[in-house]
Amino acid sequence: MCGIVGYVGEQQALDVVLGGLRRLEYRGYDSAGVAILDAGSALRVERKAGKLSNLEKEIADLSLRGTLGIGHTRWATHGPPTDRNAHPHVDCAGKVAVVHNGTIENFEVLVRGLEQRGHHRTSDTDTEVVAHLVEERYDGDLAATVRSICKDLEGSFVLVVAHQDEPDLVVAARRNLPLVIGLGEGENFVGSDVTAFIAHTREARAVDQDQVVELRRGGVVVTDLDGQAVEGETYHVDWDTAAAEKGGHEFFMLKEIEEQPAAVRETLGGRMQEDGLLHLDELSMSDEDVRDIEQVIIVACGSSYHSGLVGKYAIERWCRLPVQVEMASEFRYRDPVVGRNTLVIAVSQSGETADTLEAVRHARSQRAKVLAVTNTVGSTISRESDAALYTRGGPEVAVASTKAVMTQITAMYLVGLYLAQVRGTRDADEVRAHLADLHEIPDLVQEVLDRMGPVRKLARELRDEERVLFLGRHVGYPMALEGALKLKELAYIGAEGFPAGEIKHGPIALVEEGTPVVVLAPRHALQAKLVNNVQEVRARGARTIVIATDGDESITPYADTIIRIPDTKSLLTPLLTIVPMQVLSAEIALARGLDIDQPRNLAKSVTVE
Ligand code: G6P
Repeated sequence: MCGIVGYVGEQQALDVVLGGLRRLEYRGYDSAGVAILDAGSALRVERKAGKLSNLEKEIADLSLRGTLGIGHTRWATHGPPTDRNAHPHVDCAGKVAVVHNGTIENFEVLVRGLEQRGHHRTSDTDTEVVAHLVEERYDGDLAATVRSICKDLEGSFVLVVAHQDEPDLVVAARRNLPLVIGLGEGENFVGSDVTAFIAHTREARAVDQDQVVELRRGGVVVTDLDGQAVEGETYHVDWDTAAAEKGGHEFFMLKEIEEQPAAVRETLGGRMQEDGLLHLDELSMSDEDVRDIEQVIIVACGSSYHSGLVGKYAIERWCRLPVQVEMASEFRYRDPVVGRNTLVIAVSQSGETADTLEAVRHARSQRAKVLAVTNTVGSTISRESDAALYTRGGPEVAVASTKAVMTQITAMYLVGLYLAQVRGTRDADEVRAHLADLHEIPDLVQEVLDRMGPVRKLARELRDEERVLFLGRHVGYPMALEGALKLKELAYIGAEGFPAGEIKHGPIALVEEGTPVVVLAPRHALQAKLVNNVQEVRARGARTIVIATDGDESITPYADTIIRIPDTKSLLTPLLTIVPMQVLSAEIALARGLDIDQPRNLAKSVTVE
């Protein structure tokens, strides 16, 4: 969380930095700020609490000219989200500006030392200590100064530092959190992710643990903390700029929901061989490795955890392997039983979630093989795992995940089918048939999207509800959890998802006259039991909203509202049932006048534990 940008080049830095911050705002929107430097002029720092638009209004009439700039968008950790705590932070002389993502755990000790040596703090943040430390230690070599400070810092951080005496140098450093370099011609960039600079360059280089970047107009040098230059791989980002823009939609989330058919096509594309079977070299596992797997553990957070749960149903069914799905934040602290024949799958859109990253590190320390299922090429989780299967969903900007989840679920099916193919638990014809079904999904998702008129009407009716329950069985259960999460995070409605069979063991007490209960009831083997569960809640006054397959009338008598989806194989139904729940949550939130791209208190990429 917190988005950071750094730029040095020939353009006006303010425009470049604000453009980058606009794309990074999903990482936090408690405050925003910039520092701009022109050769021969004083460093200018402007910052403002609230969203980036507040800062933009504040500086609209100022002339902030300069070709070097750094910027920040904040998700508050130390100190409330006020102007005074907004980044960049400066030293006593106002010559050093620092933006920071992360937490400096030993900042109190450092602050005490600085105060004893006469420095005055002007914020409650941990970040400010870095500006004062630079002030103390700078002797004409900013990169060396930052390297020496990093050795004294504990915790996780990405720091970007500018100094008034160095108008052609931005220094950035990273520990545990994401930092990417953008390589241009006569200009260079750093950012929390590539969207910070894809409007200007698609050539990127990842920065590794405890490395320091010296960014100049004419080139980039990366060193370790001892100042030794290190090599790194550059890669080309094929996301285009349009993908990171709203493209005529009022909200990113609405655009990203619409993009789902294309996103699933991308996930599936090029992964089949001519014989109709799967070809997943990315897993970098020999057939023998695949056959040696004894258990699978899936670790993830938030919506990605729900994708992992769907993966469990698919892998168990097709591969007959035991699969556990664990919230990443719980995984390593319970001392899980993991060994060399365990495949750990880390599912993460951003590839940067701190809890998931720590789970990956723990699994690898136990000699498990780790596969990252992620959307973000070059992300920390992809680099620290043994292999990465990219979901290829394109940039997802809205905080609440939609197309990323859809592509993760698709990727989980691919992993399941691949393991089954190699282990021989499903014969070739069956694998081919499942793949053919998967390839029909993009068109079916489009069909669901084309039918969303009644869901929008329903959203207006549900606008003032305080509680909504979601029920599902089998793969419908993870989707009930996802539907409830979407409604909570977007519309701030108390929503909960349950396995439909579990409701009678407690949650049914929540049902009163008129309580909306969304039931995911696509056609499958447990249909009859689900019909019973719907009757149970309806008998207690629930207003039932049922998502059902075209032509299936078994549940119609018990549905107050019915939302139809096309038919597909029961295991694949999450890719269709999820869509009406996304649209319903977004439309309820919009009817309540809320910002669906940036819900309160949340951040898209949570890089603190
Ligand atoms: C945050 C986001 C969620 C996301 C979760 C995991 O909580 O708000 O939408 O599902 O992080 O993120 P990841 O990038 O690891 O998938």
